[in-house]
Amino acid sequence: MDYIKTNKASWDKRTGTHVTSKFYDVKGFLEGKCVLNSIELSELGDVSGKELLHLQCHFGLDTLSWARRGAVVTGVDLSSAAIAMANEIKAKAGLKATFICSDLYHYGAIANTAYDIVFTSYGVVCWLPCIKQWAEVVTKSLNPGGTFYMAEFHPVYDIAAGYSYFHNSQPDITAEGTYTENNSGEKSTFVTWTHPLSDVINALISAGIKIEQLNEYPYSPYNCFDGMEEREQGKFYISQAGHDIPLIYTIKGTKSA
Ligand SMILES: C[S@@+](CC[C@H](N)C(=O)[O-])C[C@H]1O[C@@H](n2cnc3c(N)ncnc32)[C@H](O)[C@@H]1O
Repeated sequence: MDYIKTNKASWDKRTGTHVTSKFYDVKGFLEGKCVLNSIELSELGDVSGKELLHLQCHFGLDTLSWARRGAVVTGVDLSSAAIAMANEIKAKAGLKATFICSDLYHYGAIANTAYDIVFTSYGVVCWLPCIKQWAEVVTKSLNPGGTFYMAEFHPVYDIAAGYSYFHNSQPDITAEGTYTENNSGEKSTFVTWTHPLSDVINALISAGIKIEQLNEYPYSPYNCFDGMEEREQGKFYISQAGHDIPLIYTIKGTKSA
């Protein structure tokens, strides 16, 4: 199966559903709402005046939220529908951003611009077969001394969802609807891989990122998995055998100068 073609079709289809969802709240964004979460806002900190590359930016709401906070932003995503929507929202919001439609690995092979910050978040590494190659794209895209930051769903959740914790070179092929509340139940097929925390960390270290911070959270800012319980506003938990499972991890690091 051509995973790029399959996943692009799935994300093109999801994008149409996502832009009209309460989950993404495009109307709220256009009225000025910041869609970034307290986790990345507090951990990444001030981005004003910084050149920021957002890998796997979907239809750009997070990217454009960083632009509102003063970053000079570029977003890359596989889905042409998502990138078209990102450009449309950018124009409506009167913001500046560059959006590039590309497979991440292809982008890494041809791009030669380096940024102050590389950012990626929430549902990204599972779409990529090779985590080492991903980490090399991250490093190549950073200026010496530049900051890498990611916030990602914790792979321990993969176990709860019936996937492997450890990486298999053979992908999981799933047919499912999407995660927004307006999901019609219509399924699309997609191809994913799990990447345990150690693989992600070791890939970044091998690619030349000095890791400064690794955090794990027992909640997700998104209500996107079955059985979540909102104990505090905007904090969704899942417990197993009476204990909270880790749902998010974040990594912050620097490219050696
Ligand atoms: C869950 S979304 C990212 C979430 C983002 N934080 C958001 O909700 O706005 C995953 C994104 O990865 C993109 N993607 C999947 N495979 C990719 C690839 N090989 N190269 C670049 N982008 C890819 C999809 O098109 C999708 O927009």
